[in-house]
Amino acid sequence: MKVVIELDTEELVRVSGPAKLHIVKGKVIVLGAILMPGDEVMVHGTRSYAVKCVDKCSIEVDIGDGASIERPQAKEEPLDSWISKVDELLDSGCRSFIVVGPVDAGKTSIAALIANRVIYRGGRVAIVDADVGQADIGPPACVSSATVDKYVFWLRELYAEKIRFIGSIVPQRFEKRIVGAVVDLVWEYRKEGIDHVVVDTDGWISGASALEYKAEMARYADIDAAICIGCEGILVDMFKSYFNALKCGAHLLASPKVKRTRDRDVRRLLRSEAYKRYLGQLHERIVELKTTPVLGTCLFSGRLFGADELKELTAILGVRVVAASETNDTINIVVEQYPRQQAIDELISKKAKHVYVRVVGDEVNVLAGIIGPNGKEEAIGIVKEIDYTNMKMKIVTPYQGEIKAVILGVIKLSDDMVESGRVQKCVI
Ligand SMILES: Nc1ncnc2c1ncn2[C@@H]1O[C@H](COP(=O)(O)OP(=O)(O)OP(=O)(O)O)[C@@H](O)[C@H]1O
Ligand SMILES: [Mg+2]
Repeated sequence: MKVVIELDTEELVRVSGPAKLHIVKGKVIVLGAILMPGDEVMVHGTRSYAVKCVDKCSIEVDIGDGASIERPQAKEEPLDSWISKVDELLDSGCRSFIVVGPVDAGKTSIAALIANRVIYRGGRVAIVDADVGQADIGPPACVSSATVDKYVFWLRELYAEKIRFIGSIVPQRFEKRIVGAVVDLVWEYRKEGIDHVVVDTDGWISGASALEYKAEMARYADIDAAICIGCEGILVDMFKSYFNALKCGAHLLASPKVKRTRDRDVRRLLRSEAYKRYLGQLHERIVELKTTPVLGTCLFSGRLFGADELKELTAILGVRVVAASETNDTINIVVEQYPRQQAIDELISKKAKHVYVRVVGDEVNVLAGIIGPNGKEEAIGIVKEIDYTNMKMKIVTPYQGEIKAVILGVIKLSDDMVESGRVQKCVI
């Protein structure tokens, strides 16, 4: 259904998708972007935005099922305060930003708004998406990034030009990898001459360790300003303690009072769509495990056992051991069937090391990162099989170049790209 809304200068409406806006007359601001007659904005079914008129406006809105157009109450809408704070920071020379805040506060919207303000001023900007659970630019379980050269309203409109594989959709226990990935990407953009960078983060903010990991990300990436959206109470003090030392300091912005939120099922569906985007046109690849490192595993991080040692383990455990390795303090074993606990206990006391047992097939459908010849992630893929006798791994991926290494994650994907399981420690 199409409706035309007429807005006076300074008037605004809140549009919840699915909807398409077509500017017919006047000048309109959406997420900091200045839109002119002929310009169009898609509002996805999971999103809502404030649409503000700057100069006598007429907007044609194509509204889909479940969409709505409302007039926010006075003080309900923070758009002006968002724009004035971001403009003030840009005016004072701040170029890089980290956006933090609780789940659904509006972090990703602020990240897009900052990029749009830089574009409005004629600058170049990159966005680094560090939210591994609700990745919008690249696939989930990755930190990814893209340069933005035209107004953006939802980060899914962008396509990842750089990916760093994390392997998990929750940041806990993976903070080091995420910090490393963000720092790496931000500096790559600076080397390419793009100084305006925005880092969008996950909504994990409760507890000191949550803020500490984001503060470290900001510090090592040499970020100028931190913005906390929707921070209230004790979080305000914690945010200031962690981020005030940045060159342009720590700044608070209000979250919109009324907005679209996404439940767990919608988030899962959004992740599934994002996996599909980066796992189209799959090719089957065979990875030679004797020569290609596999990272993120227990088995391949140690000294691999020879045939005689495997026989000894088979005798102790009473089930066929197909591969095993040891590190300083662990023995990692892959078996055909799970052995009796008593047999495992016997092995632990004999070797005086922790013993991790995995069963052949545990690796099937695990999400993996593919490292190319320059040592960086080129794509993601899904492990289909490990043949321990011939030491080969079958993996499907869109990537067709040389595979220098593979890094295994802790998530499994079903054939239709829905998350079907999570691994506690390492998958093999
Ligand atoms: N000014 C606004 N008025 C109403 N809704 C808004 C406004 N700005 C953003 N929203 C909506 O609020 C919701 C949450 O915004 P956003 O995705 O930016 O938050 P987030 O903090 O990044 O969430 P997440 O924790 O999932 O990453 C979205 O549906 C977005 O469209
Ligand atoms: Mg977000």
